[in-house]
Amino acid sequence: MTKVRKNFPKDFLWGGATAASQVEGAYNVDGKGLSTSDMVPLKSRTHSNDNMKIEVTSKQLEEYLKDDSTEYFPKRSGVDFYHRYKEDIALFAEMGFKVYRLSIAWPRIFPNGDDESPNEAGLMFYDKIFDELEKYGIEPLVTITHYEMPINLVQKYNGFESRKAIDDYLRFAEVILERYKGRVKYWVPFNELNMMLVSPFTCAGVISDRSLEKNPMQIKYQASHHQLLASALATKLCRKIIPDAKIGCMIARLETYAATSKPEDQLQALHDDQLNVFYPEVLVRGEYPKYMYRYFEENGVSIKMEPEDEKILKENTADFVAISYYMTYIASEGGDGELASGNLVGTQKNPHLKMTEWDWPIDAIGLRITLNRLYDRFRVPLFVVENGLGAIDKVEEDGSVHDPYRIDYLREHIEQMKEAITDGVDLIGYTTWGCIDLISCGTSEMSKRYGFIYVDQDDHGNGTLNRIRKDSFYWYKKVIASNGEDLE
Ligand code: BG6
Repeated sequence: MTKVRKNFPKDFLWGGATAASQVEGAYNVDGKGLSTSDMVPLKSRTHSNDNMKIEVTSKQLEEYLKDDSTEYFPKRSGVDFYHRYKEDIALFAEMGFKVYRLSIAWPRIFPNGDDESPNEAGLMFYDKIFDELEKYGIEPLVTITHYEMPINLVQKYNGFESRKAIDDYLRFAEVILERYKGRVKYWVPFNELNMMLVSPFTCAGVISDRSLEKNPMQIKYQASHHQLLASALATKLCRKIIPDAKIGCMIARLETYAATSKPEDQLQALHDDQLNVFYPEVLVRGEYPKYMYRYFEENGVSIKMEPEDEKILKENTADFVAISYYMTYIASEGGDGELASGNLVGTQKNPHLKMTEWDWPIDAIGLRITLNRLYDRFRVPLFVVENGLGAIDKVEEDGSVHDPYRIDYLREHIEQMKEAITDGVDLIGYTTWGCIDLISCGTSEMSKRYGFIYVDQDDHGNGTLNRIRKDSFYWYKKVIASNGEDLE
């Protein structure tokens, strides 16, 4: 029998993750077009789970398009990675990163999404990023698009509600696959496909009130079908252009516990879980799982498919499953109970768990559970491409930033990943979320910090943008140098 592995594999990919729209800024520089992320206003710090959703109506979009404020739309200025990438990548290298997960801003390459030719200035920006990563031997992991549909495609055909979005997405994917072949081996076609169900605007440029469809579920699942096809077709292109590439699929993993041992609660947890793993079910197994047919029928959903769709899904399956993991969820038959907040979607409070300052439950053991469940189900390598703690950090008078709470959070999660590896899970990497402080996706706040590197900027865009190494920076450097053995 093979020996039980008790440590991280020697080629384990340690690193950090960001998204273009949350770090780059320069939203209208060098020909970049507007994206959905440029249209997400700042929300004040909130503990209400309803406020986690990002919804934009047609009327709001019209207003936002006329407003050129960066203070009210902080993602437009990000943390100026666009101009400071050299300094930031040098800091990642100093921590010893093996991998850096980044996304390519779609409207930097195709400003309107349907332009005849790509924007060379945008392509050159990522050439320079990959040069810098190569200089330090850091492997890039590229999310082809992370919540950034060009606004023109939202206005023109309501984003991925339309099948036309597949062609425009694939033109973008083909251009970047061709341009960066030989430089990028790891790819993920879309960030968190399942977030369609809670934030279709962010996830896919879909504005519900622009649709002729009345059933919101119909709109969301039709748009999901288009993204699933686009993922499979991007996988096909990737295999043709970069035969030795690894291309995965990604969800926000919403591991769900039943509130009690009552069978009805257990059943609810099973159903919630099925809706979450539905996305990798399609992309890894290459077909819609049967349980979705019943769910669609009972919810008035009828997916419009073309005759070739089943074949496309079947023939172009993903190499690995990537997840973001922040917390666990609770399900019960009636769905009532005291509420906690969460990543775009809230849940019931779990009395056994501590909470973050944003009221997200902290559950490191849940990560071990979820890695086991996913590996049992899919038997393909897993990659944790997001995990981290959003917290308020304080700069001391001597300029240092002490963040023991972040170190505790990450240590506990890394310990559980190691347990999962010992359980037999094939885990290939870990990129912590927001390795440098960035603009929050859900609330557009700057004060919700995830990084090892502090960025001097407040919620309203004031600050020097200077970078400061936090205590966690030195800690993570040790973790990487010891391949996950030294967690003290
Ligand atoms: C993930 C997203 O769901 O959660 C990231 O992929 C996001 O873009 C992260 O930043 C954390 O959420 P938030 O709202 O705290 O930024």
